[in-house]
Amino acid sequence: MIDLNATGDGLEGYPLWVAQLQALLAGERDFIANAAQFSAFVFNELPDLNWAGFYLNRNGELLLGPFQGKVACVRIPFGQGVCGTAAASGRPQRVEDVHTFAGHIACDSASNSELVVPLVKQGRLLGVFDLDSPRVGRFSEADQAGIEALLAVFLEATDL
Ligand code: SME
Repeated sequence: MIDLNATGDGLEGYPLWVAQLQALLAGERDFIANAAQFSAFVFNELPDLNWAGFYLNRNGELLLGPFQGKVACVRIPFGQGVCGTAAASGRPQRVEDVHTFAGHIACDSASNSELVVPLVKQGRLLGVFDLDSPRVGRFSEADQAGIEALLAVFLEATDL
């Protein structure tokens, strides 16, 4: 469990990013503004990413939302690719090497590993947050927990 009250010396990594994100999103509750800020924050703070952004649930299809990185696929059906698998199952997908994931959708050929976390509020699937890295095995279990903590801050700070 991340200690949100820890603000002293030695604060780094996800605990620091959680505190910074809370400060960044304070005072604004608009979904598009906060989702855009969230994507830019994650993309620029976390090392070794080539894409970070939202796909939103639009009637059983994922639609591209605010993101940072190269232009990407706009619509992804539930069940397809890493994002559609996360959406259909409601479970995070942490893929060490995307080239071994059957059905992976290659938007940027630089991507070698991927983490997709479902965005759920009160049992409702709002979409997914997708991170891509050029480094094989970039995302650890700690990264998954850290991204989930950052998304919890986003959900708490935003009107949906
Ligand atoms: N690779 C994803 C598609 C989205 S892009 O990575 C931005 C997938 O397989 O679902």
